Amino acid sequence: MNKLTVRDIEVGGRRVLVRVDFNVPLSTTTGGITDDSRIQAAMPTIDYLISEGARVILCSHLGRPGGRVVEGMRLGGVARRLSELLRQEVIYAPDSIGAEVEEMATGIKAGEVMLLENLRFHAGEEENSPAYAAALARLADVYVDDAFATAHRSHASIVGVPNHLPAVAGLLLKKELNSLGRILEDPAQPFGVLLGGAKTSDKAAMLYNIMDKVNCVLIGGGMAATFLKASGYAVGLSQVKDDPKVPSELIAKAARNGVQLMLPDDVLVAAEDGTGVENVAAATIPADKKIVDIGWQAITGFTRVLERCRTVFWNGPMGIYEIDKYAEGTKAMARLIAGLNATTIIGGGSTAEIVIELKLADKMSFVSTGGGASLRFLSGEGLPGVDVILEKTPTGVNNE
Ligand code: 3PG
Repeated sequence: MNKLTVRDIEVGGRRVLVRVDFNVPLSTTTGGITDDSRIQAAMPTIDYLISEGARVILCSHLGRPGGRVVEGMRLGGVARRLSELLRQEVIYAPDSIGAEVEEMATGIKAGEVMLLENLRFHAGEEENSPAYAAALARLADVYVDDAFATAHRSHASIVGVPNHLPAVAGLLLKKELNSLGRILEDPAQPFGVLLGGAKTSDKAAMLYNIMDKVNCVLIGGGMAATFLKASGYAVGLSQVKDDPKVPSELIAKAARNGVQLMLPDDVLVAAEDGTGVENVAAATIPADKKIVDIGWQAITGFTRVLERCRTVFWNGPMGIYEIDKYAEGTKAMARLIAGLNATTIIGGGSTAEIVIELKLADKMSFVSTGGGASLRFLSGEGLPGVDVILEKTPTGVNNE
């Protein structure tokens, strides 16, 4: 990665605005944080800044409040969790911009940490309003982007603030770019990609881009229905929303590149009301049922192929994972990948949540914090949040 990082600049005594992604899952009943991985992932940068005597100002979004204050999306719970992890009090600002917050930012001392309120309470954040970006930039002297999971969004706190402040990468952002970058540059072969989840169109650009680097692509989840249909199978009540051209072109590209594209030989199906669950061959899916998971033969077949791989990238569950009786395929793949003697990279979003929930995250080579961002990165399209970071000069010295 040829970008300046937080280690390349002087931060001692300076006010450092750090864009993090604390968009953590919250319990629908208590509102509490159900998984703090994204907070933990930002700790190396925060710890580093504290140890260097920086005056740390963290900012993040949480959820999609749509430019207004939503009580359940305040960052108070995150501030408390962060205080526990840091073992020091985190100053929690009542807003992200404004006179009061500017005064608080001015008063912050070396080694202290302040967290701004949810950025998306202001419409200017998602609209990338220059005024909102300028107001955020007034709080600090330097900007650090450590929000890999939001790097695909052209929002004010991501691409607007660097118009006002020197922008460098945080340690998490650097780690994400290096880990995912290795897949694009020099993956150990054979390289297998396991994909699931609902929409094929979300992953099409990524698949096109990596098709000349992979040896096999295995498809489960809702995507399997799309590909089975494109291959001439009846898929019953399974929803296929994608443009049929997308899977057909991908199938053709795989054939041209000599990539093994593997669909499930069998699937688990159920009626709309969840009754009549059965394992059937992919060629005999009943008209009144939908695919809810990959089948037993598919698990065995996928296992055989993935066991031979030396690099595996996985994104997307194999079925309706949230429902226990449809989660077996996903769990089997998670356990298998965790045990492989290979470089194993897990795309963020729901796939990361699954391996964390199954307590398998530390068995993977790398679990990305970004769902949409990791797909966009692997599609080769570039990330707005990375493009704005200062390049390393030939001498490695920061000119800002
Ligand atoms: C994510 O969870 O993928 C990121 O935090 C981005 O959130 P968004 O999809 O609401 O922009």
